[in-house]
Amino acid sequence: MSLSMLSKPFLWKWERSEKMSRHLLSLAELTTEEAKEILNLSLILKKTRREKLLKMCSGMSAALIFEKPSTRTRVSLDVALSGLGAVPVILSTSEMQLSRGEDLKDTARVLSRYVDAIVARVFKHETLEELAKYSNVPVVNALSDVYHPLQAIADVLTIYEGKNKVEGIKLAYIGDGNNVCHSLIIASALYSMDIRVSTPQGYEPKKEVVKIAENICSNGFSYAWFPVPEKAVKDVDVVYTDTWISMGSEEEKVERLEAFKDWQVNVDLMSKAKSDAIFMHCLPAHKGEEVTDEVFESKNSVVFDQAENRLHTARAVFIFLWKEVG
Ligand code: CP
Ligand code: NVA
Repeated sequence: MSLSMLSKPFLWKWERSEKMSRHLLSLAELTTEEAKEILNLSLILKKTRREKLLKMCSGMSAALIFEKPSTRTRVSLDVALSGLGAVPVILSTSEMQLSRGEDLKDTARVLSRYVDAIVARVFKHETLEELAKYSNVPVVNALSDVYHPLQAIADVLTIYEGKNKVEGIKLAYIGDGNNVCHSLIIASALYSMDIRVSTPQGYEPKKEVVKIAENICSNGFSYAWFPVPEKAVKDVDVVYTDTWISMGSEEEKVERLEAFKDWQVNVDLMSKAKSDAIFMHCLPAHKGEEVTDEVFESKNSVVFDQAENRLHTARAVFIFLWKEVG
């Protein structure tokens, strides 16, 4: 077979994948300008009619690898990519040769030859780092034990819609200093928010993450940790919580339920925030644990707007990551 028999799009894809390597393992990989660009793009995409989006990423494809369960991330990414004309290939690790011992670095190199992005939800953040090391195409974090960047971008869009601004917003995160909390801390630095975190002792966010956020150095960012939730929520615009038992921590259930019992977001706690404070949760929620049903269902709860925004922001992320090669 001569080279001339190969179609042009094939050659184009090959050359492109050789030079691409922009990853999104955490929001710290974005500049403040890029973070704002993604937010603006999300706002535009949300208002754009679906038919107009259809060709924006046609010819592109992404492998979506899931080591853990997912509803929002999996469906929003699938619909976002398909809606842009790209092909999503959803893979559960149990169905891949990875489960039979194939090297992660070989998997990364093989997938890079087929698709234009590798999106992965993993137990260990190091798995994403290894994928990124060996992938020629962008690797996107769909949740690891350390970060959940796609969630935080959707959260920022939701805050913008709920409060008409992001800069200067006072946000209280109550509960476990986990992946969602870490990404919100970085997002607060990128978008100039004032984040107050309250966790039980021993469940604080990682110091390295706070340092990374402080180094982003945007005007208006501030971070503080409080030993009691009442102090953290005082006069804030946003109250945010997440599960006390993240995927992978199930064995600690009994001790965690005990440790976190005073960190529940209930009507009494919400009453200490501003009267128009919004309640946020990345979902899935465990009602009666980190939040009461009353707060979850209250008029100030924006949890379903937040879930919807996963779709609009996912579109923006792919357009942003792929714009260099479009
Ligand atoms: N918020 C979130 O990532 O939800 P899923 O686990 O359902 O994807
Ligand atoms: N912190 C949770 C988020 C789920 C979307 C977890 O990692 O399970």
